[in-house]
Amino acid sequence: MSSKNIAVIVGSLRKESLNLKMAKALIAIAPETLNFKIFEIGKLQMYNQDLDETPPVAWTNFRNRLKHFDGILFVTPEYNRSLPAVLKNAIDIGSRPYGKSSWNGKPAAVVSVSPGHIGGFGANHHLRQSLVFLNVPVMAQPEAYIGNAEEFFDDRGNLINKETLEFSRKFMMAFSEWVTKISTPKT
Ligand code: FNR
Repeated sequence: MSSKNIAVIVGSLRKESLNLKMAKALIAIAPETLNFKIFEIGKLQMYNQDLDETPPVAWTNFRNRLKHFDGILFVTPEYNRSLPAVLKNAIDIGSRPYGKSSWNGKPAAVVSVSPGHIGGFGANHHLRQSLVFLNVPVMAQPEAYIGNAEEFFDDRGNLINKETLEFSRKFMMAFSEWVTKISTPKT
């Protein structure tokens, strides 16, 4: 099986982000068929349609780099029952110029992580709503709402919760199969 390159987009800029820790844990236990790159989204200027006449270099780089990846893994917190502005900003920037979206057709998976009980369900599904419009085939199952996540990592950021580790392994195996299925040209 040929390896696939996955862009990882984390919806938190916080140094001690649980979502960043979770993203790193997912990368660490993923099958070798997947290669990962965590994208920097915190320095993308806030989207303004006027700027698209002469787009900021950071936008152009982000859009062009994304196009070279086979799939996307989103790992996001929930802010006020939705996705954080920084992640929505990245989604909007990648979606333009009109008709040239960098997201188009790329297989994806969404993981939401929260210290709360609901596991970021609202963020997870608001993100999925945009991804449907952007023609991003998001893996349906397994769903990943990682709640009570503050208890799952040790002082060095390692995922130490056995059930979550086991679930994450299955999740990444399913994601690998999903990316292969969607991105491999039919003969
Ligand atoms: C939150 N938090 C939060 N949690 C949640 O489960 N549902 C929510 O709607 C919100 N809303 C919310 C809004 C804002 C502005 C902040 C700053 C926080 C708490 C949030 O889940 C918590 O801070 C996480 O630790 C954020 O993820 P990272 O930064 O640890 O990855």
